[in-house]
Amino acid sequence: MDFKYTEEQIYIRDNARDFAQNEIAPSSVQRDIDATFPEEIVKKLGELGFMGMMVAPEWGGSGLDTISYTLAMEEISKVDASVGVIMSVNNSLVCFGIEKWGTDAQKEKYLKPLAIGEKLGAFCLSEPEAGSDATQQRTTAVLQGDHYILNGMKNWITNGTKADYYLLQAATDKSKGYKGITTFIVEKTYDGVEIGKKEDKLGIRSSDTCSIGLNNVKVPKENILGDLGIGFKIAMETLNGGRIGIASQALGIAQASLEASVKYSKERKAFDAPISNLQAIQFKLADMAVNTECARLLIYNAALKKDSGEKYAKEAAQAKLFASKIAVQNALEAIQVHGGYGYVREYLVERYLRDAKITEIYEGTSEIQKIVIARELLR
Ligand code: CAA
Repeated sequence: MDFKYTEEQIYIRDNARDFAQNEIAPSSVQRDIDATFPEEIVKKLGELGFMGMMVAPEWGGSGLDTISYTLAMEEISKVDASVGVIMSVNNSLVCFGIEKWGTDAQKEKYLKPLAIGEKLGAFCLSEPEAGSDATQQRTTAVLQGDHYILNGMKNWITNGTKADYYLLQAATDKSKGYKGITTFIVEKTYDGVEIGKKEDKLGIRSSDTCSIGLNNVKVPKENILGDLGIGFKIAMETLNGGRIGIASQALGIAQASLEASVKYSKERKAFDAPISNLQAIQFKLADMAVNTECARLLIYNAALKKDSGEKYAKEAAQAKLFASKIAVQNALEAIQVHGGYGYVREYLVERYLRDAKITEIYEGTSEIQKIVIARELLR
Protein backbone atom coordinates (compact mmCIF):
# COMPACT_ATOMS: atom_id res chain seq x y z
CA MET A 1 0.00 0.00 0.00
CA ASP A 2 1.34 3.42 -0.99
CA PHE A 3 0.20 6.57 0.83
CA LYS A 4 1.96 8.91 -1.62
CA TYR A 5 0.05 11.14 -4.02
CA THR A 6 1.05 10.89 -7.69
CA GLU A 7 2.52 13.95 -9.41
CA GLU A 8 -0.77 14.38 -11.27
CA GLN A 9 -2.80 14.31 -8.04
CA ILE A 10 -0.51 16.95 -6.48
CA TYR A 11 -0.86 19.10 -9.59
CA ILE A 12 -4.66 18.89 -9.44
CA ARG A 13 -4.72 19.61 -5.69
CA ASP A 14 -2.46 22.65 -6.07
CA ASN A 15 -4.45 23.98 -9.02
CA ALA A 16 -7.70 23.60 -7.09
CA ARG A 17 -6.11 25.24 -4.03
CA ASP A 18 -4.83 28.23 -6.04
CA PHE A 19 -8.15 28.67 -7.81
CA ALA A 20 -10.07 28.44 -4.53
CA GLN A 21 -7.82 30.96 -2.74
CA ASN A 22 -7.53 33.42 -5.61
CA GLU A 23 -10.88 33.23 -7.38
CA ILE A 24 -13.42 31.81 -4.93
CA ALA A 25 -12.39 33.19 -1.53
CA PRO A 26 -12.72 36.93 -2.32
CA SER A 27 -16.48 36.74 -2.98
CA SER A 28 -17.48 33.87 -0.66
CA VAL A 29 -18.58 35.92 2.37
CA GLN A 30 -20.79 38.23 0.33
CA ARG A 31 -22.28 35.40 -1.70
CA ASP A 32 -23.21 33.62 1.54
CA ILE A 33 -24.92 36.77 2.84
CA ASP A 34 -26.77 37.49 -0.41
CA ALA A 35 -27.31 33.84 -1.38
CA THR A 36 -25.87 34.58 -4.81
CA PHE A 37 -25.01 31.75 -7.21
CA PRO A 38 -21.34 31.87 -8.33
CA GLU A 39 -22.00 32.04 -12.10
CA GLU A 40 -18.54 33.21 -13.15
CA ILE A 41 -16.74 30.82 -10.82
CA VAL A 42 -18.67 27.83 -12.14
CA LYS A 43 -17.86 28.89 -15.71
CA LYS A 44 -14.15 29.06 -14.87
CA LEU A 45 -14.30 25.71 -13.05
CA GLY A 46 -15.59 24.26 -16.32
CA GLU A 47 -12.78 25.86 -18.33
CA LEU A 48 -10.22 24.38 -15.91
CA GLY A 49 -11.70 20.88 -16.26
CA PHE A 50 -13.21 20.66 -12.75
CA MET A 51 -16.80 20.05 -13.86
CA GLY A 52 -16.16 16.71 -15.58
CA MET A 53 -13.09 15.53 -13.74
CA MET A 54 -13.56 11.77 -14.10
CA VAL A 55 -15.21 11.81 -17.53
CA ALA A 56 -13.13 10.28 -20.34
CA PRO A 57 -11.35 12.85 -22.55
CA GLU A 58 -13.26 11.61 -25.63
CA TRP A 59 -16.41 13.01 -24.00
CA GLY A 60 -14.79 16.30 -23.00
CA GLY A 61 -13.72 15.29 -19.50
CA SER A 62 -10.38 15.43 -17.70
CA GLY A 63 -10.04 11.63 -17.43
CA LEU A 64 -8.79 11.78 -13.84
CA ASP A 65 -9.04 9.28 -11.00
CA THR A 66 -11.36 9.60 -8.02
CA ILE A 67 -8.54 10.58 -5.61
CA SER A 68 -7.84 13.64 -7.79
CA TYR A 69 -11.55 14.46 -7.61
CA THR A 70 -11.62 14.18 -3.80
CA LEU A 71 -8.51 16.38 -3.55
CA ALA A 72 -10.10 19.08 -5.70
CA MET A 73 -13.40 18.80 -3.81
CA GLU A 74 -11.59 19.18 -0.48
CA GLU A 75 -9.62 22.25 -1.57
CA ILE A 76 -12.63 23.99 -3.09
CA SER A 77 -14.98 23.14 -0.21
CA LYS A 78 -12.36 24.29 2.29
CA VAL A 79 -12.85 27.76 0.89
CA ASP A 80 -16.51 27.59 -0.11
CA ALA A 81 -18.69 24.51 0.41
CA SER A 82 -21.42 26.02 -1.78
CA VAL A 83 -19.12 25.85 -4.79
CA GLY A 84 -18.19 22.32 -3.67
CA VAL A 85 -21.73 20.99 -3.91
CA ILE A 86 -22.39 22.60 -7.29
CA MET A 87 -19.28 20.88 -8.61
CA SER A 88 -20.02 17.59 -6.88
CA VAL A 89 -23.54 17.21 -8.28
CA ASN A 90 -22.38 17.92 -11.83
CA ASN A 91 -19.42 15.52 -11.57
CA SER A 92 -20.62 12.63 -9.44
CA LEU A 93 -24.32 12.51 -10.08
CA VAL A 94 -24.95 13.84 -13.56
CA CYS A 95 -21.79 13.24 -15.63
CA PHE A 96 -21.18 9.86 -13.97
CA GLY A 97 -24.71 8.66 -14.71
CA ILE A 98 -24.67 9.66 -18.37
CA GLU A 99 -21.17 8.29 -18.95
CA LYS A 100 -22.02 4.95 -17.34
CA TRP A 101 -25.50 4.32 -18.75
CA GLY A 102 -25.87 6.74 -21.68
CA THR A 103 -25.86 5.94 -25.38
CA ASP A 104 -23.19 7.51 -27.58
CA ALA A 105 -25.83 9.93 -28.88
CA GLN A 106 -26.73 10.99 -25.30
CA LYS A 107 -23.05 11.40 -24.46
CA GLU A 108 -22.47 13.53 -27.54
CA LYS A 109 -25.51 15.71 -26.90
CA TYR A 110 -25.52 15.97 -23.09
CA LEU A 111 -22.31 14.67 -21.51
CA LYS A 112 -19.85 16.69 -23.59
CA PRO A 113 -21.29 20.13 -22.76
CA LEU A 114 -21.73 19.10 -19.09
CA ALA A 115 -18.15 17.84 -18.82
CA ILE A 116 -16.61 21.02 -20.21
CA GLY A 117 -18.84 23.19 -18.02
CA GLU A 118 -20.74 24.73 -20.92
CA LYS A 119 -23.95 23.33 -19.42
CA LEU A 120 -24.87 22.51 -15.82
CA GLY A 121 -26.62 19.41 -14.52
CA ALA A 122 -28.95 18.54 -11.64
CA PHE A 123 -30.11 15.21 -10.19
CA CYS A 124 -33.80 14.87 -9.46
CA LEU A 125 -34.65 11.95 -7.18
CA SER A 126 -36.20 13.51 -4.05
CA GLU A 127 -39.86 14.46 -3.94
CA PRO A 128 -42.07 16.10 -1.30
CA GLU A 129 -42.99 12.59 -0.07
CA ALA A 130 -39.96 10.61 -1.22
CA GLY A 131 -36.79 11.64 0.63
CA SER A 132 -35.01 8.88 2.53
CA ASP A 133 -37.62 6.43 1.22
CA ALA A 134 -36.64 7.12 -2.35
CA THR A 135 -38.54 4.14 -3.81
CA GLN A 136 -41.84 6.05 -3.29
CA GLN A 137 -41.67 8.01 -6.55
CA ARG A 138 -44.95 9.76 -7.31
CA THR A 139 -43.72 11.42 -10.47
CA THR A 140 -45.16 9.45 -13.37
CA ALA A 141 -44.02 8.94 -16.95
CA VAL A 142 -46.65 7.61 -19.37
CA LEU A 143 -45.81 6.48 -22.90
CA GLN A 144 -47.65 8.32 -25.67
CA GLY A 145 -46.37 7.47 -29.15
CA ASP A 146 -42.63 8.11 -29.21
CA HIS A 147 -42.68 10.35 -26.12
CA TYR A 148 -43.23 9.98 -22.40
CA ILE A 149 -45.47 12.46 -20.60
CA LEU A 150 -44.06 13.36 -17.18
CA ASN A 151 -46.09 14.74 -14.27
CA GLY A 152 -45.03 15.32 -10.69
CA MET A 153 -42.86 17.36 -8.36
CA LYS A 154 -39.16 17.12 -7.45
CA ASN A 155 -37.77 18.65 -4.27
CA TRP A 156 -34.46 19.96 -2.88
CA ILE A 157 -32.83 20.05 -6.28
CA THR A 158 -29.25 21.33 -6.08
CA ASN A 159 -28.41 23.49 -9.14
CA GLY A 160 -32.17 23.43 -9.83
CA THR A 161 -32.77 26.94 -11.17
CA LYS A 162 -29.43 27.11 -12.99
CA ALA A 163 -29.15 23.64 -14.50
CA ASP A 164 -29.73 23.04 -18.19
CA TYR A 165 -30.24 19.26 -17.93
CA TYR A 166 -31.83 17.10 -15.24
CA LEU A 167 -31.28 13.41 -14.57
CA LEU A 168 -34.75 12.66 -13.30
CA GLN A 169 -36.38 9.52 -11.92
CA ALA A 170 -40.06 8.79 -12.58
CA ALA A 171 -42.40 5.82 -12.21
CA THR A 172 -43.06 4.20 -15.59
CA ASP A 173 -44.85 1.21 -14.02
CA LYS A 174 -46.14 1.73 -10.48
CA SER A 175 -47.17 -1.93 -10.12
CA LYS A 176 -43.49 -2.94 -10.16
CA GLY A 177 -42.42 -0.78 -7.21
CA TYR A 178 -38.80 0.36 -7.46
CA LYS A 179 -38.33 -1.94 -10.46
CA GLY A 180 -40.81 0.29 -12.31
CA ILE A 181 -38.72 3.45 -11.91
CA THR A 182 -36.92 4.88 -14.95
CA THR A 183 -34.31 7.64 -15.32
CA PHE A 184 -34.87 10.33 -17.96
CA ILE A 185 -32.69 13.14 -19.26
CA VAL A 186 -34.96 16.19 -19.14
CA GLU A 187 -34.04 19.55 -20.61
CA LYS A 188 -35.00 22.63 -18.63
CA THR A 189 -36.43 24.25 -21.75
CA TYR A 190 -39.04 21.52 -22.33
CA ASP A 191 -42.59 22.87 -22.07
CA GLY A 192 -44.13 22.17 -18.67
CA VAL A 193 -40.89 22.26 -16.63
CA GLU A 194 -41.78 24.64 -13.81
CA ILE A 195 -38.91 25.96 -11.67
CA GLY A 196 -39.94 26.58 -8.06
CA LYS A 197 -38.65 29.36 -5.84
CA LYS A 198 -35.08 29.20 -4.61
CA GLU A 199 -34.90 27.85 -1.04
CA ASP A 200 -33.66 30.21 1.70
CA LYS A 201 -31.21 27.89 3.45
CA LEU A 202 -29.28 27.78 6.73
CA GLY A 203 -26.00 27.03 4.96
CA ILE A 204 -24.42 26.48 1.53
CA ARG A 205 -26.43 29.59 0.75
CA SER A 206 -24.66 30.49 -2.43
CA SER A 207 -25.59 27.14 -3.98
CA ASP A 208 -28.93 26.90 -5.66
CA THR A 209 -31.75 24.67 -4.37
CA CYS A 210 -35.35 24.60 -5.56
CA SER A 211 -38.29 22.38 -6.38
CA ILE A 212 -39.12 21.45 -9.97
CA GLY A 213 -42.65 20.83 -11.16
CA LEU A 214 -43.40 18.66 -14.19
CA ASN A 215 -46.66 19.52 -15.88
CA ASN A 216 -47.32 17.26 -18.88
CA VAL A 217 -43.67 17.47 -19.92
CA LYS A 218 -43.09 15.69 -23.24
CA VAL A 219 -39.78 13.78 -23.13
CA PRO A 220 -38.60 11.80 -26.19
CA LYS A 221 -38.22 8.04 -25.72
CA GLU A 222 -34.54 8.29 -26.66
CA ASN A 223 -33.97 10.33 -23.47
CA ILE A 224 -34.40 7.25 -21.28
CA LEU A 225 -31.10 6.62 -19.52
CA GLY A 226 -30.06 2.97 -19.52
CA ASP A 227 -33.29 1.06 -19.79
CA LEU A 228 -36.89 1.04 -18.61
CA GLY A 229 -37.21 0.04 -14.96
CA ILE A 230 -33.56 0.39 -13.93
CA GLY A 231 -33.87 4.00 -12.76
CA PHE A 232 -33.74 3.18 -9.05
CA LYS A 233 -30.62 1.06 -9.52
CA ILE A 234 -29.04 3.91 -11.51
CA ALA A 235 -29.92 6.38 -8.73
CA MET A 236 -28.47 4.15 -5.99
CA GLU A 237 -25.25 3.39 -7.84
CA THR A 238 -24.83 7.03 -8.80
CA LEU A 239 -25.35 8.10 -5.19
CA ASN A 240 -22.57 5.75 -4.05
CA GLY A 241 -20.13 7.92 -6.00
CA GLY A 242 -21.96 11.09 -4.95
CA ARG A 243 -21.38 10.17 -1.33
CA ILE A 244 -17.60 10.23 -1.92
CA GLY A 245 -18.03 13.76 -3.31
CA ILE A 246 -20.10 14.96 -0.34
CA ALA A 247 -17.71 13.28 2.11
CA SER A 248 -14.90 15.28 0.46
CA GLN A 249 -16.96 18.45 0.77
CA ALA A 250 -17.39 17.71 4.49
CA LEU A 251 -13.66 17.03 4.77
CA GLY A 252 -12.93 20.45 3.28
CA ILE A 253 -15.11 22.10 5.96
CA ALA A 254 -13.45 20.03 8.72
CA GLN A 255 -9.97 20.97 7.49
CA ALA A 256 -10.93 24.65 7.24
CA SER A 257 -12.26 24.55 10.83
CA LEU A 258 -9.00 23.02 12.04
CA GLU A 259 -6.79 25.51 10.18
CA ALA A 260 -8.84 28.49 11.40
CA SER A 261 -8.57 27.20 14.97
CA VAL A 262 -4.80 26.70 14.81
CA LYS A 263 -4.33 30.20 13.39
CA TYR A 264 -6.63 31.94 15.84
CA SER A 265 -5.28 30.11 18.88
CA LYS A 266 -1.76 31.30 18.06
CA GLU A 267 -2.91 34.92 17.66
CA ARG A 268 -5.37 35.26 20.52
CA LYS A 269 -3.88 35.97 23.93
CA ALA A 270 -5.41 35.20 27.30
CA PHE A 271 -3.76 34.91 30.71
CA ASP A 272 -0.67 36.66 29.25
CA ALA A 273 -0.01 34.10 26.51
CA PRO A 274 -1.47 32.78 23.25
CA ILE A 275 -4.39 30.47 23.99
CA SER A 276 -2.57 27.76 21.99
CA ASN A 277 -0.42 27.36 25.13
CA LEU A 278 -3.47 26.09 27.00
CA GLN A 279 -3.93 22.34 27.12
CA ALA A 280 -7.70 22.81 26.88
CA ILE A 281 -7.17 24.29 23.41
CA GLN A 282 -4.40 21.88 22.42
CA PHE A 283 -6.64 18.89 23.14
CA LYS A 284 -9.34 20.34 20.89
CA LEU A 285 -6.85 20.88 18.06
CA ALA A 286 -5.48 17.35 18.46
CA ASP A 287 -8.95 15.78 18.33
CA MET A 288 -9.89 17.85 15.29
CA ALA A 289 -6.69 16.83 13.49
CA VAL A 290 -7.14 13.11 14.18
CA ASN A 291 -10.78 13.16 13.09
CA THR A 292 -9.93 15.03 9.91
CA GLU A 293 -7.20 12.59 8.96
CA CYS A 294 -9.46 9.59 9.68
CA ALA A 295 -12.12 11.05 7.40
CA ARG A 296 -9.55 11.63 4.67
CA LEU A 297 -8.38 8.01 4.83
CA LEU A 298 -11.95 6.67 4.73
CA ILE A 299 -12.61 8.79 1.65
CA TYR A 300 -9.44 7.59 -0.10
CA ASN A 301 -10.38 4.00 0.76
CA ALA A 302 -13.76 4.42 -0.95
CA ALA A 303 -12.21 6.27 -3.91
CA LEU A 304 -9.58 3.57 -4.47
CA LYS A 305 -12.21 0.81 -4.32
CA LYS A 306 -14.36 2.68 -6.84
CA ASP A 307 -11.47 3.09 -9.26
CA SER A 308 -10.41 -0.54 -8.96
CA GLY A 309 -13.90 -1.63 -10.00
CA GLU A 310 -14.70 -3.25 -6.62
CA LYS A 311 -17.99 -2.74 -4.78
CA TYR A 312 -17.76 0.44 -2.73
CA ALA A 313 -21.28 1.25 -1.46
CA LYS A 314 -20.31 0.46 2.16
CA GLU A 315 -17.00 2.33 1.97
CA ALA A 316 -18.66 5.41 0.44
CA ALA A 317 -21.37 5.35 3.12
CA GLN A 318 -18.74 4.99 5.88
CA ALA A 319 -16.75 7.91 4.46
CA LYS A 320 -19.82 10.16 4.22
CA LEU A 321 -21.15 9.17 7.65
CA PHE A 322 -17.86 9.90 9.38
CA ALA A 323 -16.73 12.94 7.38
CA SER A 324 -20.09 14.70 7.79
CA LYS A 325 -20.12 14.00 11.54
CA ILE A 326 -16.64 15.40 12.07
CA ALA A 327 -17.33 18.38 9.81
CA VAL A 328 -20.09 19.40 12.25
CA GLN A 329 -17.94 18.55 15.30
CA ASN A 330 -14.88 20.42 14.03
CA ALA A 331 -16.95 23.47 13.13
CA LEU A 332 -18.51 23.48 16.61
CA GLU A 333 -15.09 23.17 18.24
CA ALA A 334 -13.72 25.92 16.00
CA ILE A 335 -16.47 28.22 17.28
CA GLN A 336 -15.56 27.27 20.86
CA VAL A 337 -11.87 28.03 20.24
CA HIS A 338 -12.85 31.43 18.82
CA GLY A 339 -15.19 32.17 21.76
CA GLY A 340 -17.54 35.10 21.09
CA TYR A 341 -15.75 35.88 17.83
CA GLY A 342 -16.71 32.45 16.57
CA TYR A 343 -20.39 33.28 16.93
CA VAL A 344 -20.37 36.32 14.63
CA ARG A 345 -19.77 36.77 10.92
CA GLU A 346 -16.43 38.55 11.46
CA TYR A 347 -14.75 35.12 11.39
CA LEU A 348 -15.67 32.33 8.99
CA VAL A 349 -16.23 29.55 11.50
CA GLU A 350 -19.94 30.26 12.07
CA ARG A 351 -20.46 29.65 8.33
CA TYR A 352 -18.52 26.41 8.55
CA LEU A 353 -21.08 25.11 11.04
CA ARG A 354 -24.02 26.23 8.90
CA ASP A 355 -22.44 24.66 5.79
CA ALA A 356 -21.43 21.45 7.56
CA LYS A 357 -24.90 20.47 8.75
CA ILE A 358 -26.29 19.69 5.30
CA THR A 359 -23.59 17.06 4.71
CA GLU A 360 -25.38 14.93 7.33
CA ILE A 361 -28.62 15.26 5.37
CA TYR A 362 -28.26 15.29 1.58
CA GLU A 363 -27.24 12.38 -0.66
CA GLY A 364 -28.62 10.14 2.10
CA THR A 365 -28.92 11.16 5.74
CA SER A 366 -26.49 9.74 8.30
CA GLU A 367 -29.21 7.30 9.32
CA ILE A 368 -29.48 6.07 5.70
CA GLN A 369 -25.68 5.64 5.54
CA LYS A 370 -25.94 3.41 8.63
CA ILE A 371 -28.64 1.34 6.90
CA VAL A 372 -26.41 0.92 3.83
CA ILE A 373 -23.42 -0.08 6.02
CA ALA A 374 -25.41 -2.48 8.21
CA ARG A 375 -27.03 -4.18 5.19
CA GLU A 376 -23.62 -4.84 3.66
CA LEU A 377 -22.36 -6.23 6.98
CA LEU A 378 -25.37 -8.51 7.39
CA ARG A 379 -25.49 -9.78 3.80
N1 CAA B 1 -25.90 0.75 -4.13
C1 CAA B 1 -26.37 -0.08 -5.09
N2 CAA B 1 -27.62 -0.61 -5.02
C2 CAA B 1 -28.38 -0.28 -3.96
C3 CAA B 1 -27.94 0.57 -2.94
C4 CAA B 1 -26.63 1.10 -3.06
N3 CAA B 1 -26.13 1.94 -2.15
N4 CAA B 1 -28.93 0.72 -2.03
C5 CAA B 1 -29.96 -0.03 -2.46
N5 CAA B 1 -29.63 -0.63 -3.63
C6 CAA B 1 -30.44 -1.54 -4.44
C7 CAA B 1 -30.71 -2.87 -3.70
O1 CAA B 1 -29.64 -3.78 -3.91
C8 CAA B 1 -32.01 -3.31 -4.35
O2 CAA B 1 -31.78 -3.86 -5.61
P1 CAA B 1 -32.02 -5.44 -5.92
O3 CAA B 1 -33.46 -5.72 -5.60
O4 CAA B 1 -31.68 -5.59 -7.36
O5 CAA B 1 -31.08 -6.16 -4.99
C9 CAA B 1 -32.73 -1.99 -4.59
O6 CAA B 1 -31.74 -0.98 -4.64
C10 CAA B 1 -33.75 -1.67 -3.51
O7 CAA B 1 -33.03 -1.61 -2.31
P2 CAA B 1 -33.70 -1.96 -0.92
O8 CAA B 1 -34.54 -3.19 -1.03
O9 CAA B 1 -32.60 -1.96 0.08
O10 CAA B 1 -34.69 -0.71 -0.75
P3 CAA B 1 -35.13 0.03 0.57
O11 CAA B 1 -36.29 0.86 0.18
O12 CAA B 1 -35.28 -0.92 1.70
O13 CAA B 1 -33.86 0.97 0.92
C11 CAA B 1 -32.50 2.95 0.61
C12 CAA B 1 -33.30 1.81 -0.04
C13 CAA B 1 -31.08 2.44 0.84
C14 CAA B 1 -33.09 3.42 1.91
C15 CAA B 1 -32.56 4.04 -0.47
O14 CAA B 1 -33.90 4.45 -0.67
C16 CAA B 1 -31.70 5.25 -0.17
O15 CAA B 1 -30.48 5.23 -0.38
N6 CAA B 1 -32.35 6.35 0.29
C17 CAA B 1 -31.68 7.63 0.40
C18 CAA B 1 -31.92 8.42 -0.85
C19 CAA B 1 -30.90 9.49 -1.03
O16 CAA B 1 -29.71 9.30 -0.80
N7 CAA B 1 -31.37 10.63 -1.52
C20 CAA B 1 -30.50 11.70 -1.84
C21 CAA B 1 -31.18 12.61 -2.79
S1 CAA B 1 -30.12 13.23 -4.03
C22 CAA B 1 -29.32 14.57 -3.35
O17 CAA B 1 -29.35 14.83 -2.18
C23 CAA B 1 -28.51 15.28 -4.35
C24 CAA B 1 -28.29 16.71 -4.13
O18 CAA B 1 -28.97 17.52 -4.70
C25 CAA B 1 -27.14 17.15 -3.31
